[in-house]
Amino acid sequence: MKILVLNGSPRLNGNTMHMVKAFKKGAEDAGHSVDIESVAHMNIHGCLACEYCRTKEKAVCVQKDDMQKLYQKILEADMLVFASPIYYFTLSAQLQSVIHRTYAIDVPKNIQKTALIMSSGSAFVYGLAIALPLPSIISLL
Ligand SMILES: Cc1cc2nc3c(=O)[nH]c(=O)nc-3n(C[C@H](O)[C@H](O)[C@H](O)COP(=O)(O)O)c2cc1C
Repeated sequence: MKILVLNGSPRLNGNTMHMVKAFKKGAEDAGHSVDIESVAHMNIHGCLACEYCRTKEKAVCVQKDDMQKLYQKILEADMLVFASPIYYFTLSAQLQSVIHRTYAIDVPKNIQKTALIMSSGSAFVYGLAIALPLPSIISLL
């Protein structure tokens, strides 16, 4: 399987990357190919919601930044792995931008599997991050 890991951590050798490297080793040992892209160090802007990709030229994004390279890789991958440190109970802004920008290509047809690798600074945060939408969490504080 051709696996693409989108790592949203700005720390190139941080906790998230340690987990990503462990995942890569396991996946490669099992015969898969793994490509890691550190999206926090790429020039990727947020979605402009201009709808050009849906109304003018299908699947074409007007923003000619590093997302153009990622679109190609995402379309070629069989599996997508999203990796991120938890920032305020959710993904890093850099990874969020990448996910928002996939609006242009919609659901990549080749993808058979997805996975999420998240790194946090507190032991109980995973359950909360998965189970509760942000407004509910804020009301608990
Ligand atoms: C802006 C910011 C927000 C954070 N928010 C949370 C959080 O909501 N919950 C948590 O458990 N850790 C939080 N952390 C801690 C990171 O998720 C944690 O240190 C993570 O392991 C860092 O991964 P990295 O080494 O790849 O940067 C936050 C860190 C930063 C910088």
